[in-house]
Amino acid sequence: MKALIYQGPREVTVEEVPDARIERPTDVLVRVTSTNICGSDLHMYEGRTTLETGRVLGHENLGVVVEVGSGVDRVKTGDRVCLPFNVACGFCENCEAERTGFCLTVDSDTPGGAYGFAEMGTYAGGQAEFLRVPWGDFNCLVLPEDAQEKENDYVMLSDIFPTGYHATELAGVSPGESVVVYGAGPVGLMAAYSAALRGASQVLVVDHHPDRLALAEKAGAIPVDDTEGDHVEQILERTGGGADKGCECVGYQAHDADGHEKPESTMNDLVASVRATGAIGVVGVFLPQDDGAPTELTREGKLPFDFGDFWFKGQRIGTGQANVKTYNRQLRDLIHHDKAKPSFIVSHELPLDDAPEAYRNFDDRLSGWTKVILKP
Ligand SMILES: NC(=O)c1ccc[n+]([C@@H]2O[C@H](COP(=O)([O-])OP(=O)(O)OC[C@H]3O[C@@H](n4cnc5c(N)ncnc54)[C@H](O)[C@@H]3O)[C@@H](O)[C@H]2O)c1
Ligand SMILES: [Zn+2]
Ligand SMILES: [Zn+2]
Repeated sequence: MKALIYQGPREVTVEEVPDARIERPTDVLVRVTSTNICGSDLHMYEGRTTLETGRVLGHENLGVVVEVGSGVDRVKTGDRVCLPFNVACGFCENCEAERTGFCLTVDSDTPGGAYGFAEMGTYAGGQAEFLRVPWGDFNCLVLPEDAQEKENDYVMLSDIFPTGYHATELAGVSPGESVVVYGAGPVGLMAAYSAALRGASQVLVVDHHPDRLALAEKAGAIPVDDTEGDHVEQILERTGGGADKGCECVGYQAHDADGHEKPESTMNDLVASVRATGAIGVVGVFLPQDDGAPTELTREGKLPFDFGDFWFKGQRIGTGQANVKTYNRQLRDLIHHDKAKPSFIVSHELPLDDAPEAYRNFDDRLSGWTKVILKP
């Protein structure tokens, strides 16, 4: 089969590799029809993680079931399924508590597994013609009869829609509240969209890319361009002293408009722009170690964090990988009943062969490249 292989920093190629296949009775084999490029892939693409060369990338996958193992009861050949980026067993202590992002059974040194991901097991990614899905009965979200018609919406259930929603859940967004979101990438846009679905009265989105801020506005949010004056001041003014809740959707490669990285910037900006006793949900990725970070401290995964201000304001923070399965069924039904349409952020649908160029353009945050779906 054809698959996208990580060859080293900023180099990916489409190669012939051995077909994905059923390896255990509980596996499901999927022919991939849609697989997105994610901001998380870019951390790996840039060589800013420990991802091994030769790995197949791709954790935002949707496709058709072509074979099921002898121990699979629920999922059937021909089902159209969306796969959470988390690989999870369904029976460990964390999975039982709906913390599938921290599954203890996966073949990873630390809790949590994912397809085609650094430090999250050896599972191959789905930017390929076929994908092996472990514990298929647990992990496959079976889609309704409009699966093909709404494929570009449903594929967002693999990661960014539930992840954006998770940011608002970690922050505890309630109806009528004001919410500030840092980052207008796909995840930030989905957090803003989710905040609106949860009844926020005011959603502000901070970034410095006009095309992405325009999408935030399209989703009903107030765009805040951090190149135009003090954005924290703007947020304090518009929300009457601070947003009730905040979402971090940027991660450890946070930078200014000129590209100078300052990993602590969004966390400190959130402490400053969220009101006293407010809460902050952090889904942007932070790492325990980053050889490419700008200072000795941040290379060790430590942030110069305004803990004094945070403490004095009595704020709370929730962090971590999203537990996609906690939300994907309900969000699927919002799409099915035309109450949500997350595909509004999609800018490109491309064949797998075009993936290397798509990676380059998405990584350069070229204007108009807001979300890419590969169609193997
Ligand atoms: N927790 C999870 O389960 C999970 C799942 C998916 C993605 N992620 C992570 O979420 C983050 C965002 O993903 P994405 O796909 O949207 O990525 P992306 O790189 O496309 O978007 C990030 C956006 O943040 C903006 N940005 C950079 N520095 C900023 C700053 N200081 N202030 C405001 N905006 C700033 C960039 O301009 C960009 O538009 C990444 O770290 C990704 O790895 C986490
Ligand atoms: Zn992703
Ligand atoms: Zn588990």
